[in-house]
Amino acid sequence: MEKKWWQSSVVYQIYPRSFKDSNNDGIGDINGMISKLDYLDDLGIDVIWLSPVYSSPMCDNGYDISNYRDIADEYGTMDDIDRLIQEASKRNIKIIMDLVVNHTSDEHFWFKESRKSKDNPYRDYYIWRDPTDDGLVPNDIDSIFSGPAWTFDELTGQYYFHLFDRRQPDLNWENKEVRDKIYDMMNFWLDKGVGGFRMDVIDLIAKEVDRKITGNGPRLHTLLKEMNIATFGDRDVLTVGETWGATPEIAKMYSDPKRNELSMIFQFEHITIDWDEVYGKFKPKPLDMLEFKKVISKWQTELTDEGWNSLFWSNHDLPRIVSKRGDEGLYRVESAKMLATLLHFLKGTPYIFQGEEIGMTNVKFDSLEDYDDIETHNFYKKNIKDGFSHEDMMKAIWENGRDNARTPIQWDSTANAGFSSTKPWLKVNPNYKTINVELALEDDNSIFYHYKRLIALRKEMDLIVYGDFQLLLEEDPSIFAYIRSDAENKLLVVCNVTGNEIPFILPDFISPINSRLIITNYNDQPLKDIQNLRPYESFAYLI
Ligand code: NOJ
Repeated sequence: MEKKWWQSSVVYQIYPRSFKDSNNDGIGDINGMISKLDYLDDLGIDVIWLSPVYSSPMCDNGYDISNYRDIADEYGTMDDIDRLIQEASKRNIKIIMDLVVNHTSDEHFWFKESRKSKDNPYRDYYIWRDPTDDGLVPNDIDSIFSGPAWTFDELTGQYYFHLFDRRQPDLNWENKEVRDKIYDMMNFWLDKGVGGFRMDVIDLIAKEVDRKITGNGPRLHTLLKEMNIATFGDRDVLTVGETWGATPEIAKMYSDPKRNELSMIFQFEHITIDWDEVYGKFKPKPLDMLEFKKVISKWQTELTDEGWNSLFWSNHDLPRIVSKRGDEGLYRVESAKMLATLLHFLKGTPYIFQGEEIGMTNVKFDSLEDYDDIETHNFYKKNIKDGFSHEDMMKAIWENGRDNARTPIQWDSTANAGFSSTKPWLKVNPNYKTINVELALEDDNSIFYHYKRLIALRKEMDLIVYGDFQLLLEEDPSIFAYIRSDAENKLLVVCNVTGNEIPFILPDFISPINSRLIITNYNDQPLKDIQNLRPYESFAYLI
């Protein structure tokens, strides 16, 4: 496989609303991002994935776009974004834009026209159907944000289709004119010099609603090939598709370079592993660690040479990883470093979600009113109707709700965590006085410097980028260990994924003469005589 720049890169995701407020309206903005580029440069990242900054009524915080070629007022102007691209480029950082083209906002010009009349030229840009003979919804497809995927529009007496909120109508990708307009828009951004796209729920665009097919529609890969040719195919960019329904077989279809589709995808098998079949993330079950190890290992080995993995623990839709899979209390620092070590030595392109690099944690607001997220509110309403108690729902929201990831970045210990001088749009996590960037930068042993070291190691060692993966201790529920190897070297990674001491003896092939400890989360790791791994202890040896 030909080597690509994005294989040895590390990506950092910015959620604009919560990153840094520069004009003190309580909402993060583009100038705030520019002011923190040196911080990101210091961390060592190569790419920023920018969650949507386009004009939007913000019912889903920008994943409901009303104009793809304009910037939301609260985030800044087109000049600001041009400056962000330039300033980032001075630091060798590329910006990749979020491409949300499964749906638009209902305030997009196309939809406003579309709903006017059945013969409006934009009618067919969206998916409209008559009610059934009994006057009911066309079929029983549900929205991912709960409730039916169909909303009745009085004016023309038809239903329109939306896989998310009713204010996010789905585009009709069977319409060539729609596709051409999207490709034009993508080229508009590519011409500005962006480094690629993260493609929102891209596996849903080829839906066939009458056959009740939503994900992985039959024409999906034909459409992606068409998009590739019409837009980024001859440019050296990173494209990553969000695909909740991907298996390794499907992943190869997207990311096998011979097929000319995308660079890589986000798959979610390691995330949804503890979700309920019906209620999903809002009824989580305990994690089966052996299954978890199997899933990670499967993705590592099955994509070898015919595709590429993305590596991530968190994003703006997921809980904070240290709370979810580590220990946000006593062992916060150790467990956050362990999780980083576990992920960053895998084969693939790592993604860091803002705040992860300082070990930000989940938040527990007492009142539902303090939550902003549309998914959280929609599910609360639905699940309470289905018999969940308020207490159960709050517990589920504390564990898996999306606002866990969206509280403002904790920059320092001053009011509003240094994010803004006014009250932020979403409450700051009350732990900001002990967990913040300023403290992290002052402490040589902080989680921040652990991430920085992991990123630097990836740049130094091709083995981390390209080496083969082999899982060790498959049947051990407490230790996640693996080997990466190439023709010359081996890398042994060992992680205690529990808060207990676990008996462990280093394998024979490690000796003080042939090995070098390259990272550890306890500072006094001896090479020999290890009998036990301490809580969340993790390290890597180069052999
Ligand atoms: C996935 C995005 O990550 C999420 O935040 C959004 O709500 C849905 N797609 C709809 O765009």
